Amino acid sequence: MDPQFTQREQPRMLAELNEFLAIPSISTLPAHASDCRRAAQWVADHLGALGCTASLLEGDGHPIVWGESPAVPGAPTLLIYGHYDVQPTDPIDEWVSPPFEPTIRSGHVFARGAVDDKGQVYCLLKAYEAARDGHGRPPINVRFLIEGEEECGGHFIAELLKAEPERAHADAILVCDMSYYAKGWPAVYTALRGMCYAELEVRTAQRDLHSGTYGGVAPNALETLCRMLMDLKQRDGRIAMPDLYARVDPPTKAELHGWNSLPFDAREFLRDEVTGKALTGLEDHSVFERTWALPTFEIHGISGGFVGDGAKTVIPAVATAKISMRLVPGLSYEFAREQLRDACGRVAPDYADWDLRFIHGADPVQVNVTQAAFKTLDRAFEEVVGRATVAIRGGGSIPVVTDLARGGAPVLLTGIGLPDDGLHSPNERLDLQQLWDGINVFGRFFEMLAE
Ligand code: BES
Ligand code: MN
Ligand code: MN
Repeated sequence: MDPQFTQREQPRMLAELNEFLAIPSISTLPAHASDCRRAAQWVADHLGALGCTASLLEGDGHPIVWGESPAVPGAPTLLIYGHYDVQPTDPIDEWVSPPFEPTIRSGHVFARGAVDDKGQVYCLLKAYEAARDGHGRPPINVRFLIEGEEECGGHFIAELLKAEPERAHADAILVCDMSYYAKGWPAVYTALRGMCYAELEVRTAQRDLHSGTYGGVAPNALETLCRMLMDLKQRDGRIAMPDLYARVDPPTKAELHGWNSLPFDAREFLRDEVTGKALTGLEDHSVFERTWALPTFEIHGISGGFVGDGAKTVIPAVATAKISMRLVPGLSYEFAREQLRDACGRVAPDYADWDLRFIHGADPVQVNVTQAAFKTLDRAFEEVVGRATVAIRGGGSIPVVTDLARGGAPVLLTGIGLPDDGLHSPNERLDLQQLWDGINVFGRFFEMLAE
C-alpha cells in the first residue's frame, strides 16, 4: 500500500468524514429515521465510488448496508462489520461545538459518532481504498456489513444472519468498534459483556393524589420504585440476585495475569475517564474484574410525578425506571431476565402493582484469539504503531457478535478509539492520528491477509 496515501489524501478525507459525521443518524429516535437512511446511503454511495457493489437491505427498522469488493479469485475473504447509527446527543448544552457540526480542535475531530462508530467505519473504507490503490486492485475479497440499529437494540441484523448465514461466511471477520487499551497500546478483545435492558413500572393508586389530604397514608409510586431499585443492589455493589454470581465463569489465570501486567493507574482512571470523586462497586475485585468480568445493575433514568417548573404537591400513582444489567460469560440474556423478574418480585411490596418490560438484550461473547488472523493483525499493528495488540476484554456490548461468530470464522474485535474519547458522552471525539494510523494498519492488514 502506498505509504504516502494518508498524508497526501488528508484534506479530502477530512472533508468526506465531515460529511458522514454531519448526518444525525440517531437510531433510537424515530424522528431521525430518514437521517439513518441518509447515513446508510452515504456508506453505500461511498462503496460504489470505491468500485464495490453496494445495496441497502430492508427490514422493519433502519437499513443495513451490504457491500462487496470486486472478486479476487483465490484470495481470502474478509467480512467487515460496523454501524452507522449513533447515540442521542443529550445533554446537548455540554457540547463545546454542536454534535453534528464536526469540528477539529487540538488534533481531534469532535462529533457524535466520531469514534462510535462512524469514524471507525470510515477508517476501514479508506484502508480498503489505500490498499486497492497500492495494487491497482483490492488485495483480498472484502464484504461490508454496516448496520444502523446497533445502538438501539434492533433485531434486523440478527434476523438477516439467521435467514442468510452465508453472509457471515468468511475467512475472518473484522469488528472495528472498540478502542486501544491506552495510547500506544492497540488491543484485541477476548470477551464483550452481554446486556439485559428493561423498563420497570410501578403503580400504587388509580390516580395521583393531593399530598396534603392523603400524605401520611397514601403509598407513593416514586418512593416505592426507588426503594425497589435500592433493594436490587446493595450498598457494597453486590446485585441482590443470589444465583447470579455463582453462575459467572471467572476469568482464567492467564487472563488475570495478562490484565495484571497492563499499565494501570486507578487515580488517573478516576480523574481522566470516570471524572468522579471515587470508584464504587465490589471493592474486593479489581477495576478490570468489575468492568470486564462481573455483571452490573444500572439505573438509566427514572420518571414519574411532577418535574416541570414550579411546584406541585402531588403523590404520584405511577413511576417508571429504565434499568439494565451487563452480563458476563456464564450469564445468558435468558437467565438474566428470569433473575431480574424474580428479584423484582422479591423487592416489591404487596401494595404495589409492577410490570417489567424487556426492551432488548444480548448474550455475552467470548472469542478465542489464537487463530492465524490475530497474528496477522498483530504484525500490522507492530509495523505501523510499534506494538502488537494486548488481549483485554470490553465492558460494552455488540449484540451481533454472537451471530457473526456462529459460522466459525475468527472474529477480530479491535478498534482505533482511545479510552477517553467519550463515546456516548458529550464532546465525543476521535484522535486524528489514530485515524491516520488506523488506515495504515488496516491497509497493511488487508495486504498481509493476501500473502
Ligand atoms: N462500540 C460500543 C460497544 C463497546 C464499547 C464495546 C466499549 C466495548 C467497549 C457499541 O456501540 C455500544 O455502545 N453498544 C451498546 C449496545 C447496547 C445498546 C445493546 C452498549 O454497549 O451499550
Ligand atoms: Mn459502537
Ligand atoms: Mn455505542
